[in-house]
Amino acid sequence: MRNVLVFGAGVMLAAGLWFDASSWTATASQEQEKLPVKNDVPNTPEIQRTRKQAKMLDTLYKTAIVVVTENYVTGEESMAAGDAFQAIFKAMKDNGFHEVRLLDATGQPYDSDNAPANSFEKNAVKAIVGGSTLYEEMVREGDKSFLLTATPIPVVMEKCVTCHSNYEGVQGPIGALGLKIPIE
Ligand code: HEC
Repeated sequence: MRNVLVFGAGVMLAAGLWFDASSWTATASQEQEKLPVKNDVPNTPEIQRTRKQAKMLDTLYKTAIVVVTENYVTGEESMAAGDAFQAIFKAMKDNGFHEVRLLDATGQPYDSDNAPANSFEKNAVKAIVGGSTLYEEMVREGDKSFLLTATPIPVVMEKCVTCHSNYEGVQGPIGALGLKIPIE
């Protein structure tokens, strides 16, 4: 059987499974399922609100990437969702809302800028490749605090392999969605 997950039932199912990473890992292997890594990030009301925002953004970005890939990508020459979304990521950052990164977990990124670049990204990718469904850290910069989160990106459809030939036959996550959100 091919390892690439193909969801005939369509985009919403793919996005739903992608978002609910725990159910995805559970089907991949019950035994290897691991808990989220939260690194003692406290559970204060501010952090609960920020976590909710992280979950919302994770769902939004993953659903949008699946919808665009499903409906607008016809081949390798198409504009990739991952490419088009760099403009959205930049607008969010420039306006001070949050930062987003599509991270590679295979060691062979399409764009080398997407290789894990700092200790958070490296630790997050390591935990996610090891089966964690969520990785969190908290950082202070000056007088501001930020919640850093990362969740797994599996190969949700055959089309992903059209451009990322290194995803062929890969079991488990091939990347991670990283977020940096101000705690307010
Ligand atoms: C049309 C070609 C194409 C398709 C189809 C495609 N990608 Fe990509 N992908 C790209 C390009 C180009 C980049 C680099 C974007 C950038 O940062 O400018 C990228 C970046 C990524 C990254 C960040 C790491 C890296 O390799 O740079 C991940 C993770 C990713 N894609 C996952 C997926 C998944 C999952 C799918 C299927 C839903 C998919 N891609 C479908 C072309 C594609």
